[in-house]
Amino acid sequence: MRMRKKKNSDARIAKCAGLLVDQPVKIAGEGIYSPFPNELHGGPVALELGCGKGDFICGMAKAHPERLFYAVERIDSVILFALEKRAAQLEAEPELPDNVRFIIGDASHVAEWFPAGSLSEIHLNFSDPWPKKGYYKRRMTYRAFLELYAQVLAPGGELHVKTDNDILFDFTLEELKSAPFELLWQTRDLHSSEYCIGNIETEYERRFIEEGVSINALAARRL
Ligand SMILES: C[S@@+](CC[C@H](N)C(=O)[O-])C[C@H]1O[C@@H](n2cnc3c(N)ncnc32)[C@H](O)[C@@H]1O
Repeated sequence: MRMRKKKNSDARIAKCAGLLVDQPVKIAGEGIYSPFPNELHGGPVALELGCGKGDFICGMAKAHPERLFYAVERIDSVILFALEKRAAQLEAEPELPDNVRFIIGDASHVAEWFPAGSLSEIHLNFSDPWPKKGYYKRRMTYRAFLELYAQVLAPGGELHVKTDNDILFDFTLEELKSAPFELLWQTRDLHSSEYCIGNIETEYERRFIEEGVSINALAARRL
């Protein structure tokens, strides 16, 4: 489902069309279609779901030029900021590889977009916690979502989760127990932990740190 908030998003999104996967369903069918320049093929492929305004994906793409990145966001007027941020980054630093593509859509379609076993990493950063009773199936770490991630991750591929929300974090740890994942590490305070090395901050993360909120984080491996 593509959600719209602002009417004027379309024209600005169109200016960044080269960064968008126009018809993501085409990604499916390995070898048939790739939105990346040929010379970049062959590296690990990572995916962020719910990328918001794009700080994380732009930071990751710069830190790991050998990887390819996809970023999914379902709200046009939000992904617009991510698209424009990435376009500005490439303009300011033309030596960076063109290794990020964005998809406007809902994370529940991930297994329709990506071939089975094609991804090396999935990142969920500050996903909506859906705290109300009865809405837990919408959480992006609900078992049905974990099954989808298991389909598209290669064996040994990793799921990385960061959240300020303790309820979502506890829920995620429980859901992982019955999913085809092995917990690699977890922390209730990412920024005081050894796992913060190489951490790329997101917009929400920066806000929470400023407020003194501890960040929960984990990594799990696809079995
Ligand atoms: C709380 S914000 C966090 C944004 C960013 N990851 C960060 O850490 O700053 C969650 C984002 O995920 C997006 N989102 C939530 N559910 C989604 C879904 N099922 N598919 C795609 N995007 C989703 C929301 O639109 C929102 O932009």
